[in-house]
Amino acid sequence: MTLDRKPVRIDPRTPWLADVRRMLSPMAGVTDRPFRDICRRFGADMGFCEFASASGLTYGGEATWRLVDTDGEQGLVGVQIFGSNPEHMASASRLLVDKRMDVLDINFGCPAKKVVRKCGGSALLADLPLLEQIVRAVVANSCVPVSAKIRTGWDEDSVNYREVGRLLQELGMVWVTIHGRTRAQKFSGQADWGRIADLVEALDIPVIGNGDVTDAESYRDLVRQTRCHAVMIGRGAIGTPWLFAGMRAVDDGQPPSQVEFAEMCSVTCDHIRGEVAARGEQQGCLVVRKHISRTFRGYPGAASLRRRLYATVESAEMIAILTAAAAAGRPESDAENLTQPEANR
Ligand SMILES: Cc1cc2nc3c(=O)[nH]c(=O)nc-3n(C[C@H](O)[C@H](O)[C@H](O)COP(=O)(O)O)c2cc1C
Repeated sequence: MTLDRKPVRIDPRTPWLADVRRMLSPMAGVTDRPFRDICRRFGADMGFCEFASASGLTYGGEATWRLVDTDGEQGLVGVQIFGSNPEHMASASRLLVDKRMDVLDINFGCPAKKVVRKCGGSALLADLPLLEQIVRAVVANSCVPVSAKIRTGWDEDSVNYREVGRLLQELGMVWVTIHGRTRAQKFSGQADWGRIADLVEALDIPVIGNGDVTDAESYRDLVRQTRCHAVMIGRGAIGTPWLFAGMRAVDDGQPPSQVEFAEMCSVTCDHIRGEVAARGEQQGCLVVRKHISRTFRGYPGAASLRRRLYATVESAEMIAILTAAAAAGRPESDAENLTQPEANR
């Protein structure tokens, strides 16, 4: 049985959005090009770059421009910018004119102190006149349609997602993504899916639900409870990009797909190769560690496998370790690991 979703008004500039159900959330330090490509392979309909500072893009920061490296990228891709200076937001939008991107997203959700201190990210939920100025500046200067990502409000005393959502709809956003937490919650507690459902009902444009979807079951539950048009998946995808395949199976009315241990190893090898090609040997290997810390969970011997992988920053060695484990059909277990609690594996 296919999932029931609320009929929505799709902007004629984004006809592809009608079929988009599963998006990889923007995540700083995580959703770089190699990882986006891997997630798409398993069923992410769209990938987002890590957020980029509008001021950084405006002043030509090389490191900031690397975050939006989408040249030649296959499949749907979104770039996300943040900032509190409407002029910088406008100039960043103009400078992105030649970028390969399907949507330009504005970040109104980041809770990080260094961002909100300068009134960027989720701080703008508490300053709607400035938020409006920023949106107008981006819309007027972007060569692609614009979307926005919000939280439910600044804190429990100022929950205003409905007001913000309606404003964003009026200002021409092609969709609104809502992470079901306030800024004050950061990543604690649970995402409030009831508020996501409420925003779905309140808007005519697509609402993308976000927060705490970690597998096919929670994906199905979020869509059932909210009827949101699509889901953005963040932390759940780190180290387990194949979870998109299970979600795609839910949408296709197919039985849940199982990913074999050997395939996990081979995907991790591909990820290592991709990161090394993008960042060089040492940096590439270090970036993949962040993912490996969440891969192979629940397998006896996983901790030992990770330890061996962490012991090197040579991709050939990491790949050899993973290839041997794949051939054995399991992480090499040792006595120490067999006595560790499951949670540490
Ligand atoms: C390491 C990390 C980096 C993140 N970076 C961004 C970002 O650049 N832009 C953004 O809109 N959200 C960012 N987020 C928030 C996620 O996109 C997402 O909204 C949040 O994690 C909730 O979804 P989840 O429960 O699926 O992870 C980040 C989250 C994490 C954990």
